Amino acid sequence: MVARLKVGISLNSRLIFQKMSLRLVFAFFIEAALVVACTPEGEEPILSENNYELAAPAHFPKLGLPEYNPQTLAGVELGRRLFYDPILSADSSLSCASCHLQEHAFTDGQAIAIGIDDKPGRRNSPSLANSAYYYKGLFWDGRAATLEEQALIPVEDPNELGNSWAMVEQALRRHPFYPTYFSEAFGIGDTAQITRELAARAIAQFERSLISADAKYDRVLRGEASFTPSEKRGRDIFFDASETLPAGECSHCHTPPLFTDHSYMNNGLDSASRLEDFSDTGRGATTGQRYDNGRFRVPSLRNLTLTAPYMHDGRFATMEEVVEHYNRGGHYAENVDPKIRNLHLSVQDKEDLIAFLRTLTDSTFVNHPGFSNPFKP
Ligand code: HEC
Ligand code: HEC
Repeated sequence: MVARLKVGISLNSRLIFQKMSLRLVFAFFIEAALVVACTPEGEEPILSENNYELAAPAHFPKLGLPEYNPQTLAGVELGRRLFYDPILSADSSLSCASCHLQEHAFTDGQAIAIGIDDKPGRRNSPSLANSAYYYKGLFWDGRAATLEEQALIPVEDPNELGNSWAMVEQALRRHPFYPTYFSEAFGIGDTAQITRELAARAIAQFERSLISADAKYDRVLRGEASFTPSEKRGRDIFFDASETLPAGECSHCHTPPLFTDHSYMNNGLDSASRLEDFSDTGRGATTGQRYDNGRFRVPSLRNLTLTAPYMHDGRFATMEEVVEHYNRGGHYAENVDPKIRNLHLSVQDKEDLIAFLRTLTDSTFVNHPGFSNPFKP
């Protein structure tokens, strides 16, 4: 379908796009959606503007899109192709989607990611849901500042795609279709202008489209569903909202609506008598501060039922194990957050907390046709 879209992105329309307020942009998108809806069957709609609908929900924070990389339909489609295309790996065996699978909310179901030639990496593949909102760094240790910067890394990581960007650029320039897709997405006129930077921008656009906001939790907020009594008790434990139930302390770090506050914390996974003793120093390797050793980015809890195993090293196979870890109060290290403490949860409390966590899974997201592999019919 993308080959037939005529997406003209003049410099002018880009400027207009940037100047329009978000609200106006949305109004415009709704119109574009109507145009699509009214197109007679069998005819591909011709969208002639810079109009990708980012389904940014009302109860989410405002999205700050980089001015140099606005979302466009052709850009998102190109990014989606690149994301699913094994052309990015040295032996054409793996793509980004090998470790970020839609049915697992863009994780891979493994404790530690496995890259080219079955080489294990060192960490668990994070979900890419709502990564557009991660403004305080990407990766467990926050070492990449933007999605654009991040997208350059896996191609040359010897434990991931094991390729070189020079090879990828060559393959894309010689490819029967990619030159057209790049020209539609970025208005370039010459295959030599196909670069890693543009490829990374397209991938980032696709990733920004991966918004997950239709879990039962969201539907309850919108008044379209209601929690069971067990989910309600679990919610109250999660948010320390009840006088009579124990406080779970969870929402201090896993703050709604994204269920992360984007901070870097030590949640007591490993005991370390000295801050130098962590086998993976995490955030400390990025900042160079010893007090950040053993700290990792607070992950979102959205789609938890699909993203096991859990933590930066995938050490917990089930939500029950995770909740038991918090209930016991974790292990000692100087920088473990004081909110990590013995919670005194009963068997029923733990069950209810997990029932609430299950309401964060969004089946619309994992079945969204626009996020799926475009090479599979
Ligand atoms: C071999 C498996 C593997 C492949 C292939 C892979 N990733 Fe990842 N990805 C990971 C792992 C593991 C991490 C976490 C690494 C870390 O934190 O040090 C990660 C982290 C990320 C993050 C950061 C998410 C966050 O919440 O901070 C993004 C974005 C991402 N990958 C996108 C991609 C893209 C785009 C590609 C293809 C160009 C790709 N990945 C290929 C395993 C993989
Ligand atoms: C002090 C901040 C903090 C508090 C309080 C906290 N967490 Fe976490 N949580 C984290 C951090 C940091 C991680 C990632 C740790 C790592 O992998 O090293 C994490 C990871 C998780 C994960 C794994 C998610 C994944 O995708 O791997 C789950 C599930 C989780 N927490 C649930 C909870 C629940 C339930 C509570 C309340 C009982 C809670 N957390 C309280 C900081 C916190």
